[in-house]
Amino acid sequence: MPGNPIIFRPGALRGSVGVPGDKSISHRALIVGACCAQPLRIAGLNPGRDVRATREALRALGIAIEDDGSVVTVLPGRLQSPSTTLDCMNSGTTARMLLGACAGAGVRARFDGDGSLRRRPMEPACAQLRAFGAKIETTNGHLPARLDGTPQIETRHFILLSPSAQVKSALLLAGLYAGVEVRVDGDRGSRDHTERLLEYLGCEVERTARSVGLGTGKPTGGEIGVAGDFSAAAFFITAAALTPGSDLLVRDVGVNPTRTGLLEALRMMGAELRLRNERTRFGEPVADVAVVARPLVGAAIGPDVALRAIDEIPLLAIAAASAQGTTTISGVADLRSKESDRIAAIERLLGAAGAGVTYERGVLRIAGDARGGRDGLVTTGGDHRIAMAAAVLGCALGPITVDETASVAVSFPGFLERLGALRA
Ligand code: S3P
Repeated sequence: MPGNPIIFRPGALRGSVGVPGDKSISHRALIVGACCAQPLRIAGLNPGRDVRATREALRALGIAIEDDGSVVTVLPGRLQSPSTTLDCMNSGTTARMLLGACAGAGVRARFDGDGSLRRRPMEPACAQLRAFGAKIETTNGHLPARLDGTPQIETRHFILLSPSAQVKSALLLAGLYAGVEVRVDGDRGSRDHTERLLEYLGCEVERTARSVGLGTGKPTGGEIGVAGDFSAAAFFITAAALTPGSDLLVRDVGVNPTRTGLLEALRMMGAELRLRNERTRFGEPVADVAVVARPLVGAAIGPDVALRAIDEIPLLAIAAASAQGTTTISGVADLRSKESDRIAAIERLLGAAGAGVTYERGVLRIAGDARGGRDGLVTTGGDHRIAMAAAVLGCALGPITVDETASVAVSFPGFLERLGALRA
């Protein structure tokens, strides 16, 4: 991964900052947009590489997408079998959700990705799409994968076999693109952006705590604005919560409760976090998040909260390291198969700050009271969230050197500049 090593030194964050549009919502808006009755104009689309992968894959599938620099417009159409392999780059969301949409549309396509994505499991999504009727072959459960259409629709009622929002969404998108009713049971509270977007765009969505049913109508299209990415805001929120002297406002952040487990966990640890100016925009809750640094104490963070913070566990581990006393975080086994093995990455992060951590059967146990000042080195493994987590570690327990920061462009181009401005 290109990019030079950078040193992050301790220092408070002060002032206010905005974040890019939510990555999860951006993928969904593009894919749902292609299936709408009318064009869908999307403001605030996430500018990172992952969302570009979805955009370019949709183009390869014959969908026209216009971009005037601030609004991206998806012109809906029938998906066409592409002549080239769909390159999902580093993006698991692109691969799994487009497998679902393409299975529903009955197209033939070959899916691939970069080295990291080729190591991530595709069977959880593909096995359930096979039950739907899709003909899919993976490479020992991984990419490259070949989809050979969906000769006949079989199962329309699924029990989720993994706690993944990507798999849930793949099944809903398969139903949407096929124009058939589908129901997905057994959701454990994973992010619900697909359901909210479809509902906002007029689809018939029936929901209970653990299940979602989708009717056959097409989404309308029109206009949406993507809320600020909570998972991007999380880096600033955590750095400010941990670093003495910090006083920060993160503006216009999506605070969908299926995403804000980090706030719940940090509050359990004694953090001072306030939501201001709460409102609903385009079916999603949005607020400004105010943070003042306070000394934290260890806590027992259960699997439900961890699921709502699935991309923020490295940040929670850093908070735990700087807190007083031990913290446990349960239900995190899936972190082994994110953009990198994030259990190993957490061990590297905390090791660089001299903090103790053990992992056994889905549970992280983190000894608190780390003092930092060790001048440690973190290797990111090319994982964007680990590069940004290393910056947070540096603010709170630095100095920390990180081997590369080029990977932040996957989700948050401009992260370093915004962090720099808060520390000026
Ligand atoms: C995502 C869901 C999560 C998350 C990923 C984005 C999504 O993955 O880790 O970064 O947009 O649905 P899983 O649903 O596989 O846990």
